[in-house]
Amino acid sequence: MELIRIPRIVQDTCRKYLVKGRTLGFVPTMGALHDGHLSLIRRARMENDVTAVSIFVNPLQFSASEDLGRYPRNLDEDTRKIRNLDVDILFVPDENVMYPQGFATRVTVEALSGKLCGRFRPGHFEGVATVVAELLNIVSPTRAYFGQKDFQQSAIIRRMVKDLHFGVEIVVCPTIREHDGLAMSSRNSYMDEAQRQAASALYRCLTRAADAINAGERSPLRIKELMTAVLSSEPQIVQVDYASVYNPETLDEVKRIEGETLLAVAARLGDTRLIDNFIVNV
Ligand code: PAF
Repeated sequence: MELIRIPRIVQDTCRKYLVKGRTLGFVPTMGALHDGHLSLIRRARMENDVTAVSIFVNPLQFSASEDLGRYPRNLDEDTRKIRNLDVDILFVPDENVMYPQGFATRVTVEALSGKLCGRFRPGHFEGVATVVAELLNIVSPTRAYFGQKDFQQSAIIRRMVKDLHFGVEIVVCPTIREHDGLAMSSRNSYMDEAQRQAASALYRCLTRAADAINAGERSPLRIKELMTAVLSSEPQIVQVDYASVYNPETLDEVKRIEGETLLAVAARLGDTRLIDNFIVNV
């Protein structure tokens, strides 16, 4: 595995593979790798000739009040995990090469960025779209892999890639969960024991909603009430940012449940913000 810090060298290395007709699978990450990331890397490995992974904690997607400073970083441990998965290229850029002095570009996917998490994290998705555009241009992958846990992020990236003709296939992979259903996330490590116990309420509220829909419930209002009831039975959940039923393309709340439907939730336990979602099809 080559660990490369300079974009130009990554670009040259990836192009050498691509001109030989090889396919390149790319997994962008912010490090603190857990089994969710590893499942993306395994999938990329399986579906492509060459695999590239990036680790970059992107300051542009954190607001001033967010957790950039305490975001977990462990490059040695991450490198060891990646090496075991037979990755070809590990790209670990510094902030000054991703955002050198004079960097002035922002990518905004307008219609989708202000909804769901965007209402509570202004500027977050602009930061995500900007860094992902930059990474895709450096690596030029055949396919790029993202987790369904960050549903809105993948919807925004799919839209950006389509609108701007990036020519990369976006592959969205299933959420990997802990034994009690909690979606794996680097932020899970922030929680204390009591919060960690309570955190599975997000999964339970989605399961309860999906079960009700599968049993015939079609009222989004009723489903929203069910989800809120599960979340509010947990005193550790100090705030619910949203818990409702959405159209997975537009991310708008739906008036009636039919076809492919997104159930999504974001809630805070102490100062840890967790998100999760299910797709149901009726
Ligand atoms: O999902 C993440 O880890 C990040 O948002 C991403 C896609 C690597 C961009 O920084």
